[in-house]
This record gives sequence, C-alpha cells and structure tokens, in this order.
Amino acid sequence: MAKICVIGTGYVGLVTGTCFADIGHQVTCLDIDQNRIDQLHQGIMPIYEPGLEQIVEQNVDAGRLDFTTDYSEALQGADFAFIAVGTPSDDDGDADMRYVKQAVMSIAQHLDHPITIVNKSTVPVGTGDWVAEIIQEMNGANTFPFSVVSNPEFLREGSAVSDFMNPDRVVLGSTDRAAAEKVATLYEALRSPIMITDLRTAEMIKYASNAFLATRISFINEIANICESLGADVKEVARGMGMDQRIGPAFLDAGLGWGGSCFPKDVKALAHMAATHGAHPQLLQAVMNINRNQRMRAVEKLEKALGSLAGKTIGVLGLSFKPNTDDTRYSPALDIIRMLIEAGATVQGFDPQAMTASQAEIPELQLCTSPYDVAKNADALLLATEWNEFKSLDFARIKANMRGDVIVDGRNIWYRMNLHQMGFTYFGMGVPNLSEN
Ligand code: UGA
Repeated sequence: MAKICVIGTGYVGLVTGTCFADIGHQVTCLDIDQNRIDQLHQGIMPIYEPGLEQIVEQNVDAGRLDFTTDYSEALQGADFAFIAVGTPSDDDGDADMRYVKQAVMSIAQHLDHPITIVNKSTVPVGTGDWVAEIIQEMNGANTFPFSVVSNPEFLREGSAVSDFMNPDRVVLGSTDRAAAEKVATLYEALRSPIMITDLRTAEMIKYASNAFLATRISFINEIANICESLGADVKEVARGMGMDQRIGPAFLDAGLGWGGSCFPKDVKALAHMAATHGAHPQLLQAVMNINRNQRMRAVEKLEKALGSLAGKTIGVLGLSFKPNTDDTRYSPALDIIRMLIEAGATVQGFDPQAMTASQAEIPELQLCTSPYDVAKNADALLLATEWNEFKSLDFARIKANMRGDVIVDGRNIWYRMNLHQMGFTYFGMGVPNLSEN
C-alpha cells in the first residue's frame, strides 16, 4: 500500500485517485475548487462517468479515499504526488501550462519529505525536465530528494473506470529508472504490461497515440466521403478492412468526426510543437482539416434535402461529444447546431446527460424531454451522438411527430433500408443513398 496525493479532480484525477484507492492504496485527492471538494464530501460527482459514484462511495467508506483543498494535508507523508490538472490549448495549439505550474509550485512549497512526482496531465514534450527545474529553482540545493516520472493517461471518457482497471499498457518515463520502477509497483495489482522509457519518449507516446487514433477516424471519414461519391458502403468497407490483423477494427467508425477534450487539443498541440521545432506536420494538418469538414457535411446533407435551412426546424439527438459522458467540449453535435442556427434554423435537441452544459454553450438551443419530443414538428432529424437509447426507437411514433421526413444518421446506427421503407428520406455518412435510387 502506498500513500498517494492526486492533484486535480477532473476526469483523469478523480478516476485515477479513486481507482488507486480501490486497488488498496491510501489516496487524497486535492482540488483548488472548494465547491468541487465540498460536493465530493457529500458524494456528489462533478462529472458523469459510469460506475464512478459507486466506487468513490465505497472507497470513502473504507477510509482509503479523501478529498481536500489543502496541499499540506494532501502531501503529508505522501510517497507519490500525481499531477492531473487541465492543460487547455490556446488558439495556436500551445498548451496552457498555468495549472501544471501552479500544482508544481505548490508541491515545491510544501515539500518536507522525499517524494516522487508523477505527471498524468498531457503536457508538451520536455515538461518533465521543466517540472524538476521549477522545484530546484524554488527550493534551492537543499530541497528534499524528488524524482519526476511521466505516466501518460489513456483512459476514455465514458469507460474510464474499466479502462483504468484493464489497461492495454502502463507507460512510465523518467530520467531516474528507480523512480519509474517505484511507480510501476502502484500498478502491480492490475497485471498489465508496463513499459519504462525515458521522460520525453513517454510524453511523446501520449501525443502520438491520440494523434494516431484521430488519424484513423479522419482516414475512415475521408474513405466515407469517397464511398458516397462511388456508391460503396463505408460500414462494410471498415468491416472488411478491420479483419486484417495489421489494421484491426477499432476506431474505424465513420461519422461526424472526433471531438472531446483530448483529440482536438492534442493533435493541435502536437502539430504546433512540430512546427515550432522546424518539423512539417503535413499529415496532422490534413487530419484536422478533414475533421472540421466532416461537421459541415452533415449540414450540407440537410441543405440538400431541405433547401434553405432558414425557418426550418431541425431535431438533434445527442449533444455530448460521444455517448456515456456529459462532456460537450468540442462536441461535433454542438458545432453543427451552431452552423444550423447560423443558417436560420430552429434547433431542438435531447441528450441523456449533456442538456445543461449544451444550453449553457448555446442558449438558442431548445431542449426537449425525449427523442419523440425532439421529433415534434421537425423538418429533419439529425442523429449526432450514438447513445444506446437512440439505437432502437419507435420510428412510427417519430414519423407521426415530425413535420418532414428527413433523417441524417450522423453515426450510421440505424438500418437505412427499414427507415427508407417507412417513408423516411434517409442519409447516412458514407453509405449509399437509397432515396436517390
Ligand atoms: C481519447 C483516447 O481514446 C484515450 O485513450 C485518451 O486517454 C483520451 O482521449 C485522453 O487523451 O484523455 P476520449 O476523448 O475520451 O479518449 O474519447 P474516444 O473514445 O477516444 O473518442 C474521441 C472522439 O472520436 C469522439 O468524438 C468519438 O465520437 C470519435 N470517434 C471514435 C469516431 O468518430 N469514430 C470512432 O471510430 C471512434
């Protein structure tokens, strides 16, 4: 059992801290947001993440998990301090390191015993060295011994707890191999492969992994667009490609493109890092451009079916950036809604978890109480986020509620033949358009 302090109680910090407690470690999660910590003390989760609330409660009850805003309390006797704070990017793609710096300076101020500092935030390559420099600078030569280890995060929102418990790999990077090996012991109970490498390489593995996944999605979206022109079906193309073991089936779902707090920020940051160091990230630029255009394709499909969108009512199913989360950051759904409103349409939407966040971002969005409510008087229905509860709808009821008959299935989840036979004008992403035959 180790004593761990986790700084930051967002998606990464709260899940990491809670899961470490669940595998037997003693964890204190720290956040500078008093309101957040007060809510956690009352068992109220700051985010929606399946399974999290229950395991937080179990570990708080077992005395292995606590929350505080006080650094001296959180760091007292801690063997490890995990940094899991946000690194938002500015318009150029530069990561904003303000919160990481604050966390490092606070650790330096309260350092009264040897500690291993583990960085989980996604940070520009080279940050690990910078962390060590800050502490040295602040504390001088007489600082207590410390090491810095990079431990990039591969959790997905919506399945973060099970991803933590069943990782494909744990990556650790440090200039101090013994420190990385100490961090490796924290994960022993998970019995997953552990890779130890140098600090900068570990930091790069994170960016390269996210950029590669985003590239796969942009690739299949480009193929989807070509399929549309040539009359092929991208779902079948992806299935056929995925059977090749060198390719594999994951992350080949064509649709409205990638969003969320990670891919957009990390691909942009990697391209920015490359450009500022004299490299030419041509592929990354294309990956981002394809992703931007993919959102417009949904709007173009609606325009193709309805003509001008001015005065039309569009119902949107799903507002979060992907299912099983309330996160709307860089959500394709919200970007598309903005474009529809800009074009003069009235937009009514529904999401199982992301309604409040969506309306805060787009006050003109009219919120509905169910998919059937979304369909009411709609000229067209757009499926933007593939929540399970949208997969088997009563389409006779949907049709009766709608004013028009247009469906844009932005994630290819419905059987287009059934909907076509029911009299809908169905558009998918990269699949043959039956209504034109
Ligand atoms: C992603 C990575 O998958 C995690 O490994 C990583 O830890 C995380 O970023 C992070 O850096 O923190 P996440 O953003 O939670 O996780 O979501 P994903 O499941 O990767 O989906 C990202 C986006 O791609 C979503 O908008 C999703 O709808 C889209 N997507 C995904 C597709 O359009 N097609 C696919 O086939 C898969």
